[in-house]
Amino acid sequence: MRVLDAFSEAYDKSPEGIWYAPGRVNLIGEHTDYNDGLVLPFAVPWGVTLAASPRQDDTIRLISLQAGTQTIDSLEDAHGWARYPTGVFWALRREGLPVRGADIVIDGDIPEGAGLSSSAALEVATAFALNDLYALAQSPLALARISQLAENDFAGMPCGIMDQATSALAKEGHALLLDCRSLASRHIPFDLPAHGLRLLIINTNVRHALADGQYARRRQECENAAKHLGVPALRDVTDLAGALALLKGDERKRTQHVVTENHRVEALIGLLRANAVTEIGALLNASHLSLRDQFEVSCPELDVAVESALRGGARGARMTGGGFGGSAIALVSADRTESVEATVKAAYADRSWHPPTILTATPAAGAHRLS
Ligand code: GLA
Repeated sequence: MRVLDAFSEAYDKSPEGIWYAPGRVNLIGEHTDYNDGLVLPFAVPWGVTLAASPRQDDTIRLISLQAGTQTIDSLEDAHGWARYPTGVFWALRREGLPVRGADIVIDGDIPEGAGLSSSAALEVATAFALNDLYALAQSPLALARISQLAENDFAGMPCGIMDQATSALAKEGHALLLDCRSLASRHIPFDLPAHGLRLLIINTNVRHALADGQYARRRQECENAAKHLGVPALRDVTDLAGALALLKGDERKRTQHVVTENHRVEALIGLLRANAVTEIGALLNASHLSLRDQFEVSCPELDVAVESALRGGARGARMTGGGFGGSAIALVSADRTESVEATVKAAYADRSWHPPTILTATPAAGAHRLS
């Protein structure tokens, strides 16, 4: 294994263990997590492999096979990608847990910039490793929370819990239904090949610079709307028409998206329970239109991916993740895969855009120790 060789070479010893945490793709329930709502993501078969040993001091030595080396003597030293693993040390220590330093090697294969949560995978792999190395006895869900806090309060990205929870809790062959208020979760069987289906990930290979700023702004708009409506979170809106009558402008649009998106998650779950997975496409399409027109987090590259996938014969498609680039997903009958791929690629070529990368997503296992 590459991390093992690199670890022995760099540190002149064997690591105490090797851990793995995957990225995620979200089937439906977008921008609902920080509104205390429902999400239905699953883990992708790509992730972060991390070899580590504890240290007697507080230094964190990080070697990434993709991104270089950083030695963190004082937590503020961490920059760029190193803020994610370092943030996990910081968050665990802030909880009062006895975590000292570590020697670490990281290897990742999550496609760059695809919006498949490589940062969450890096955080969760670090959290699982430190949990074992320092015998912290934290549950996978607690480690997901710690990872989210690392991202919120150390890396400065105000994300919800979806990405970290998926990486920590996912199960192979299943999607994860997560209630982001109670944090109760359920594994829902999601076997597309059994129905002659596939879920394509269309990576636009674009990430617009405004993504992080707009994310924080959307979150604020949702919180403001909830405040105006006098509810703890948009999750609690039970009368949509009544709520919309009290709001205007952006807060009105954001509320319309969040409330309807929560219902789409429930509707999709209902279809899966009814063994009607071939029928979920319309919900994916509706989710995309709502994200494009009400939540306003799509972009031309995502819209063209979705529209051209549908033109090529997809049963449903939508942007996935935070938006402003990253990936779209398309549900396709296995025998239409080539036609969908060709139509999407042609649509990009017509606009002289950098070609998208198209992958097949199969629900993979969540974080675990490899050795
Ligand atoms: C990003 C965040 C998640 C979630 C999605 C949108 O991926 O990290 O917490 O809010 O956007 O659904």
